[in-house]
Amino acid sequence: METIDAILTRRSVRQFDNTKEIRREDLEEIIKAAQYAPSAHNMQPWEFLVVTDKEQMAQLRHVQPWTSFAKEASAVILVCGNVNQSFSRHKEDETWNYSDIDCSLATENLLLAAHAKGIGACFCGAAPMPKVISGLQEMFALPDYIRPLAIVILGYPKTEPKQPDNRFKPEKIHWEKW
Ligand SMILES: Cc1cc2nc3c(=O)[nH]c(=O)nc-3n(C[C@H](O)[C@H](O)[C@H](O)COP(=O)(O)O)c2cc1C
Repeated sequence: METIDAILTRRSVRQFDNTKEIRREDLEEIIKAAQYAPSAHNMQPWEFLVVTDKEQMAQLRHVQPWTSFAKEASAVILVCGNVNQSFSRHKEDETWNYSDIDCSLATENLLLAAHAKGIGACFCGAAPMPKVISGLQEMFALPDYIRPLAIVILGYPKTEPKQPDNRFKPEKIHWEKW
């Protein structure tokens, strides 16, 4: 699939063919694509927790209510950032880190790679919602320096996802001046 086609035709998929599982090699390949994302100072602070246990996937809705369709999924990938490994600053006048941004870029790569393989996926939010972060940390016994950014729910699509209306808004481009 051409890159531009993949970008323009990717859709969030929330209905899955629950008779078809995603092969481990395919999960590994789409995570590989995620790991090729750009990251601040090339710190690559991401970690990926792969969940295929149906009961655990069904339980996710108690931590993040907009993930109820995970019960029909083939796999969930929790994209997390290691905040100790991300490009960051901890000074009196400045405290920041790039973990969420780096993990967001990795997640978009992951979504596009899944789509290129005919696998449906949906980005479900974790950070910056404090209750979701702590709920996931507890559910999966994550160390406190591991910050979940996205709950990506994956499976083979049950139906062809509907294409969006034209999203191109030329008025959002500010040529040379605002
Ligand atoms: C940060 C973020 C959080 C999201 N959280 C959820 C979610 O919790 N549940 C869900 O079903 N979709 C979630 N989505 C998917 C969006 O609803 C979806 O991307 C948007 O409606 C555009 O549709 P598309 O992905 O098909 O282009 C999230 C997307 C982003 C980027």
